[in-house]
Amino acid sequence: MKGKKGIIFGALDENSIAWKVAERAHEEGAKFVLTNAPVALRLGTIDELAKKTGSKIIPADATSIMDIEELIDQATKELGGKIDFVLHSIGMSVNVRRGNHYTYQDYNFTKKGWDVSALSFHRVMSVLYRKDVMNEWGSIVALSYIAAQRVFPDYNDMADNKAYLESVARSFGYFFGRDKKVRVNTISQSPTPTTAGSGVKGFDGFLKYAEEMSPLGNATALECADYTISLFSDLTKKVTLQNLFHDGGFSNMGISTAIMESYLKEIEAEKSKKEHSDKKE
Ligand SMILES: NC(=O)c1ccc[n+]([C@@H]2O[C@H](COP(=O)([O-])OP(=O)(O)OC[C@H]3O[C@@H](n4cnc5c(N)ncnc54)[C@H](O)[C@@H]3O)[C@@H](O)[C@H]2O)c1
Repeated sequence: MKGKKGIIFGALDENSIAWKVAERAHEEGAKFVLTNAPVALRLGTIDELAKKTGSKIIPADATSIMDIEELIDQATKELGGKIDFVLHSIGMSVNVRRGNHYTYQDYNFTKKGWDVSALSFHRVMSVLYRKDVMNEWGSIVALSYIAAQRVFPDYNDMADNKAYLESVARSFGYFFGRDKKVRVNTISQSPTPTTAGSGVKGFDGFLKYAEEMSPLGNATALECADYTISLFSDLTKKVTLQNLFHDGGFSNMGISTAIMESYLKEIEAEKSKKEHSDKKE
């Protein structure tokens, strides 16, 4: 990463996946600009990260094309020209926050969540593409979740947002590859204890289930950062249009012995309870 320059969206606090990516990119010698929504800059602790990594913070709401244009102009100025990597680590569902069930959403909230979590990826890439600010063999990564392919009922409308996000990565990735030799991928990450992650109903259940299902266990935020760095590096130049599972093997599992054993235990307990009450009668 030495000599590489980029933009990192979405570091809110030290638990954020983007925070870990920034720390790792800094360790590997990259220079970057940090950005987040103005409200997140007030609520989070990004100043600490900026100080630690010697980075400038440029506020931008990912739903505003003007903010993104201004951000990219300022970031390229700050970094002295074209850039090599961009991380989109942004997600938010108002329906999830308000506890609306998937089957009965407030569609204004649905639109807002889609705009923030999915359309923003198109918006960012559109400005990068039109302003022609990505160096050849640059790399753009966004973060996704397996609910884009499989049903996780409490992930709510974020499942649809992630499906859209992954599709945008492929569709825009084609033009970025053909015209600019830039790769575009999404990383489908294990459940991770962050502000966005913990907001999902039943998150602790998600976390434990995935941990017990995955042969390698859940991937942490730091491990996700390591994987992201590999995608920003020159060692993955021909990887593009992919949704890459970074989940300890979860996505290819049917059932694990740990999960099976917990069911068998439950069945045994039921049986002995029944035997006990039959004897009493
Ligand atoms: N935590 C998990 O379990 C998990 C699993 C798979 C994928 N992801 C994805 O990883 C990404 C990062 O999330 P995280 O888990 O690090 O949580 P996080 O809460 O730390 O990060 C989410 C970020 O989105 C930013 N954001 C929200 N609205 C914005 C807007 N309008 N403009 C700009 N930024 C805005 C927030 O300020 C925050 O920094 C998200 O795309 C999330 O869906 C998370």
